[in-house]
Amino acid sequence: MKDFKDKIDNCKKDFDRAFRQIKDEKSLQELRNLYLSRKRGSLTLLFKDLTTLKPEEMPAAGRMVNSLKNYIQNKIQTLKGKFEAPEKVIKEMDLTLPGRKKYWGAPHPVHLFQEEIENIFISMGYSIEEGPEIETDYYNFEALNFPPHHPARDDWDTLYLTDNLLLRTHTSPVQIRVMEKHKPPIKIIIPGKVFRRETLDPTHLPMFYQLEGLVVDKGITFAHLKGTLEFFLKSLFSEKIKMRFRPAFFPFTEPSAEVDIGCTVCGSKDEACRVCGGGGWIEILGSGMVDPQVLKNVNIDPEAYTGFAFGLGIDRTAMFAYRISDMRYFYENDLKFIHQFFLK
Ligand code: DAH
Repeated sequence: MKDFKDKIDNCKKDFDRAFRQIKDEKSLQELRNLYLSRKRGSLTLLFKDLTTLKPEEMPAAGRMVNSLKNYIQNKIQTLKGKFEAPEKVIKEMDLTLPGRKKYWGAPHPVHLFQEEIENIFISMGYSIEEGPEIETDYYNFEALNFPPHHPARDDWDTLYLTDNLLLRTHTSPVQIRVMEKHKPPIKIIIPGKVFRRETLDPTHLPMFYQLEGLVVDKGITFAHLKGTLEFFLKSLFSEKIKMRFRPAFFPFTEPSAEVDIGCTVCGSKDEACRVCGGGGWIEILGSGMVDPQVLKNVNIDPEAYTGFAFGLGIDRTAMFAYRISDMRYFYENDLKFIHQFFLK
């Protein structure tokens, strides 16, 4: 009887050792055959061995073999379940159930408005250029004719990363980058994010979007600038819009002009209008003839070529177009506000 008990113990130890090595269903099946197969399985042989025992020893020995058989069967069954689990889940999944509702993202209203502007210029044969949001002092200021320490820089104050690297305050530096690489004729627009040292209020954001325009060729005059901007603003707002050019100063254009349109929010009728302040006009963009010094800075001969440029705030213009009195709404991520742009 002692020999028989040793045999059972060894059989269990061997099984446990082999069981620990099992990594897949195939080797598990092989292990099962080794121990439980009806003809030559180790358990079957143990059952046969029972007959060599004395009759009074047989019941206790039989119970031991049976309990080992149960032990082995259980272990194999449990592991088999684990290997099969993923397939079982798929089989039990109810494919007829309705799917969960997915919420798709949508373009932001400012981005949609940017595309509207881009399409007007694309229809006039402009192409789109982009540039880096982190700029060097040279591109953001110096090449655009802002000498170091010039007070004009105060209006474009920003965040400096190092003495020489800053978050760009306008899209104008991309004019320089493009003119350095390409010779005229140049006819481009440049949309992008810009940054300023500003305190948030209804019409000022420390980060906003601008769209720059630049045309350089032989014989470009102020008349081209005027005609282009008139066509653009009438396409964007309406044929009936009122506009005026006002003298202004920018270091990189000479002469320079700011363009105003009749207030779209109050129709130039409300003396207490929060948007035009009762004056009836809203400033929409800056523009001018490219300063000869700027052309020299990029090795374009100002005797042979002239150009015009302009820059407008995309979010600011969107505010006028959608008659929104506070630009901050665009960035508060309030779905009640944003959804209105998709219900039109
Ligand atoms: N860069 C100017 C700004 O951020 C806007 C501007 C004015 C751009 C005149 C131009 C321009 O290209 O000609 O205020």
